[in-house]
Amino acid sequence: MNSNSTTQKIILLGYMGSGKTTVGKELARLLPSTLIDLDRQIEIFENKTISEIFDEKGVIYFRKVERAVLEKILKLDQCAIISLGGGTPCYFDNMDYLNSFENAATIYLDVSIPTLVSRLSPEKDKRPLLNNLSTSEDLTEFIGKHLFERRPYYRKAQYHLSVQSETAAEIALKIKNLLN
Ligand code: S3P
Repeated sequence: MNSNSTTQKIILLGYMGSGKTTVGKELARLLPSTLIDLDRQIEIFENKTISEIFDEKGVIYFRKVERAVLEKILKLDQCAIISLGGGTPCYFDNMDYLNSFENAATIYLDVSIPTLVSRLSPEKDKRPLLNNLSTSEDLTEFIGKHLFERRPYYRKAQYHLSVQSETAAEIALKIKNLLN
């Protein structure tokens, strides 16, 4: 990928709580570039929160809108960092679609299960896929199984970053160096 391209897209993916949006914000500051958060764009497009879309229209509808909004963003003639939703890579041919763009780089933020559990525990009620899990054991078991199913899709990303205890700013710097 040519990092000087005027339409370069950097696409951040990974499980819920992996820091896609937080790292995206840091990277946007560092490059500089614009961060486009896919979930946020879906909410604007549908004029509903993600939870409302899941509750009122269901998961299939959500995944279709997610793909449609993703296509709109990819067609924008501008540089951007795009933070996907945790499930985006796992539906339709979304990963092959994203990897087919010459001016795009897909980056998987690989975060350990205990870290995901500690980040997601306090905010699980806001998340449609987690809000029925009551204990931290349930959450750990769910995330473990879910990640096992999703990893094959995440691993289709062109770059993999194993995130340990680095700050979002440090990860953003790593990504910048990776793409130079
Ligand atoms: C989802 C992740 C969420 C959001 C929706 C579904 C998923 O995005 O798209 O709740 O399937 O993992 P974040 O990963 O940004 O929380």
